[in-house]
Amino acid sequence: MNTEATPVLILGGTGHYGSRISKSLLAKGEAVRVLTRNPDRAREILGNTPDIISGDITSAESVRTALDNAKAVIICVSAMSWANIKRIRQIERDGVLSVLEEAKTAGVNRVVYTSGYEIREDFLVQMKMREFGEIKLEIEATLANSDLNWTILGCAPSMELFFAFLRNGRMTVPGGGPPALPTISPDDIGELAAQAVLRHDLQGQRFRMTGPEALSFPAAARQISKVTGNDIKVLKIPLLPFKLASIITRPVNPFIRHLYWSIKLLNNFPQDLADGVPRDHALLRDTFDYTPTTFEMEIRKRFNL
Ligand SMILES: NC(=O)c1ccc[n+]([C@@H]2O[C@H](COP(=O)([O-])OP(=O)(O)OC[C@H]3O[C@@H](n4cnc5c(N)ncnc54)[C@H](OP(=O)(O)O)[C@@H]3O)[C@@H](O)[C@H]2O)c1
Repeated sequence: MNTEATPVLILGGTGHYGSRISKSLLAKGEAVRVLTRNPDRAREILGNTPDIISGDITSAESVRTALDNAKAVIICVSAMSWANIKRIRQIERDGVLSVLEEAKTAGVNRVVYTSGYEIREDFLVQMKMREFGEIKLEIEATLANSDLNWTILGCAPSMELFFAFLRNGRMTVPGGGPPALPTISPDDIGELAAQAVLRHDLQGQRFRMTGPEALSFPAAARQISKVTGNDIKVLKIPLLPFKLASIITRPVNPFIRHLYWSIKLLNNFPQDLADGVPRDHALLRDTFDYTPTTFEMEIRKRFNL
């Protein structure tokens, strides 16, 4: 690695998607800097090469230190955990807005923001869960109205989603899932985000980041069965208990509520977006230089086959 080079800053660089982005940038010989609340854990995840800065996106000082001399920034933070969710506004909204402000001051013009696949305000309102998407809506609007050289990556759920519901030969799916939904290998997010942040010709563009095909949970289970030789049964469980748990636990911690919203959104995934997956994927292939990971390849990776 060229240690003289100015680094790409990854906010959320230890996360599910961010750690893959770090890996891809390092593989290209880029200098990488990661801001983390837990440097020891970050070293375990990312190894010794990246520059690790201990801090918090909600601290103006941390943000300033992290941006100092960076050539570009990727914003990939998430507060979607039991411990973090109460601070979601401070982290995903206020923290990110302060990064955009500070980036201008620090002369860091290139910004890549990882968002949801597509954030449709009218759909969220119709689902009575506007709150679930309002932060990302605001950040996307702020970028659109800024002078920064920005690109938004609308990320599909990770293919990990299908494995997350798998236990002892059963795929247990709350609500059963939609007829089809896009997913993407986290390694592909890593590669595409790394390429995106190093380019300057993608200004003002928003991409839907998807793998080659939209899959239902039963279709995913069939593929896993075929590749591994183990028969996977799909079990649909009702959503109601999640809804009740989300109401009961809400005064203590809104995490289950956010989890319930995610599952509800998943089950109502808009069909037109699923139908558009081949087109959206084709755009990624035309724009970036990479070999897309199919779900079959992801299964082989996952089960070391
Ligand atoms: N995973 C998916 O399937 C998926 C699907 C669609 C969209 N996305 C989007 O992709 C982005 C990343 O999601 P993810 O699933 O990769 O996240 P994740 O695995 O939950 O990781 C969260 C990251 O945020 C960082 N973070 C949290 N609070 C922080 C704070 N106060 N200060 C600094 N860093 C903080 C964490 O760093 P430390 O813990 O090291 O401090 C960690 O690196 C999000 O915008 C998410 O909405 C993800």
